[in-house]
Amino acid sequence: MPYTAAALAPGGHLIDIAVLASGSGTNLQALIDTPAVRPHVAVVISDNPDAPALQRARDAGIPQRVVPWPGRADRDAFSVEVAGAVEESGAKGVVLAGFMRIVSKSFIDRFPHRILNIHPSLLPAFPGANAVENALAHSVKLTGVTVHFVDEGVDSGPIVAQVPVVVFPEDTIATLHRRIQIEEHRLLPAIVEALIEGRLDVVGRTVVHR
Ligand code: GRF
Repeated sequence: MPYTAAALAPGGHLIDIAVLASGSGTNLQALIDTPAVRPHVAVVISDNPDAPALQRARDAGIPQRVVPWPGRADRDAFSVEVAGAVEESGAKGVVLAGFMRIVSKSFIDRFPHRILNIHPSLLPAFPGANAVENALAHSVKLTGVTVHFVDEGVDSGPIVAQVPVVVFPEDTIATLHRRIQIEEHRLLPAIVEALIEGRLDVVGRTVVHR
């Protein structure tokens, strides 16, 4: 029987999380719609003041913060400000759910093995911002979704979970991404629940699920 947040609450390992999102926020919505996760979303942070993700947070009654992206030259200052917003919320974990900025080493060091990212390919294939487009360009027959811990590289940290998605010959970026997102919205809440409940351990590059 799977653990539930309620079952572990007394003396358990429950942590709150901050969700970082730059865009539409459908993955954030999947987290909001998951009863075991929603009470543990302490804040939603965006670099984009117009991100629909912020409206989703507002509608759910979750505090929102905007930290505008100042440009690559100031990535460290940006990361310090975002880390400050996370810590002020009380969150001990971070979920990058369509966050289009790369955080610096200082940010990663503040939340060791507590930062998850969701990526629309089967890593290590197709890291970076154009994963769906690149998978199609390579005519792969199978792609998918990866949830991984964030390290200093781009989409290179220890893999927590993956789900395959078949590529059809007639797929466009939009149709393939839509099917990938259906899987994202199933996978991410399950893994975030495990993070909240302290059920993910990292040994080298291997993530052990307890
Ligand atoms: C997702 O496809 C995710 O894999 C990628 O960015 C997209 C965000 O979508 N990192 P949304 O904002 O959650 O709808």
